[in-house]
Amino acid sequence: MAKAQPASEIDWENLGFNYMDLPYRFLAHYQDGKWDDGELSEDSTLHISEGSTALHYGQADFEGLKAYRTKDGSIQLFRPDQNAKRMHNSCERLLMPPFPEDKFVDAVKSVVKANADYVPPYGTGGTLYLRPLMIGVGGNIGVHPATEYIFTIFAMPVGAYYKGGMTPTKYVTSDYDRAAHHGTGQAKVGGNYAASLLPGDQAHKDGYSDVIYLDPVNHQTLEEVGSANFFGITKDDEFITPKSPSILPSITKFSLLWLAENRLGLKATQGVVDIDDLDKFKEAGACGTAAVISPIGSLTHNGKKHVFYSETEVGPLTKKLYDELTGIQFGDVEAPEGWIQKV
Ligand code: PLP
Ligand code: COI
Repeated sequence: MAKAQPASEIDWENLGFNYMDLPYRFLAHYQDGKWDDGELSEDSTLHISEGSTALHYGQADFEGLKAYRTKDGSIQLFRPDQNAKRMHNSCERLLMPPFPEDKFVDAVKSVVKANADYVPPYGTGGTLYLRPLMIGVGGNIGVHPATEYIFTIFAMPVGAYYKGGMTPTKYVTSDYDRAAHHGTGQAKVGGNYAASLLPGDQAHKDGYSDVIYLDPVNHQTLEEVGSANFFGITKDDEFITPKSPSILPSITKFSLLWLAENRLGLKATQGVVDIDDLDKFKEAGACGTAAVISPIGSLTHNGKKHVFYSETEVGPLTKKLYDELTGIQFGDVEAPEGWIQKV
């Protein structure tokens, strides 16, 4: 894999969402019942045993967060403590040893600092995406948790995840499930994404941005998108996002629930979104770290297309939420206490 081109040669405005082998990543090892301190490494290849539980039994979890360049040239993170906490929960679900949460945040900052040239300039829309990843390693073959682990955090500059950014795109439901109610849906583990590859690929081939999964019991209520949570805004100005035991607790979603209520004056709730009740929404979107806010133009279910606000234009409340969220992330709008950490 070729190393990333020098930062000075990058076209910041047209990044997309692609892997890049940047100069530095953080790397820590768990052995004999404890984590070492970890250090920055220039080697982007992981050297692991063929008997690693991550390879056979999916003992792998990850996170996603971003570093933002502000107008004055400084760099900041959005709620990294929440990613540390969620990774802790994901580790517990897979019987992996959590990396200490305060050290997680320090390690994220060290990776951003070491790759600071690759944090896109303010105003380009780009950000530095950070991918913390933990895998079970060492020689194992029985279905048991590993005794050795690797924790790494690598980074890459990114632009929009869904082509079109703030232009609405099309979504579709699927007969497949992403996760079971009492499975691993709440944890950010590799297996959930493996399960979403086939339905996601079918959706892409049919011209859709992504799948919106339905509840795995009755296929009647909306769950989430393959890589983001769903939200809708009703005709009487209520921001609603699904509550389910099998969706990822999105940090962006919790932030939008707060902003919708406290900054936009909307009622904001987590509740049931019935597939037969989409008419009550005047706007809808997908939200997440990679997706930011991506307006949902339409949702096709059983061959029937439901259009929300418009197939070509973002709705005014979705746009307001986007401006508020990204304003905070890039340092232009006052942040609620504790949401921003300077690097
Ligand atoms: N749902 C899924 C399946 C995701 O992969 C993500 C991305 O992290 C999200 C939701 C959004 O979560 P967050 O806002 O914490 O990035
Ligand atoms: C994120 O938004 O950070 C994600 O993890 C979504 C996707 C790229 C897997």
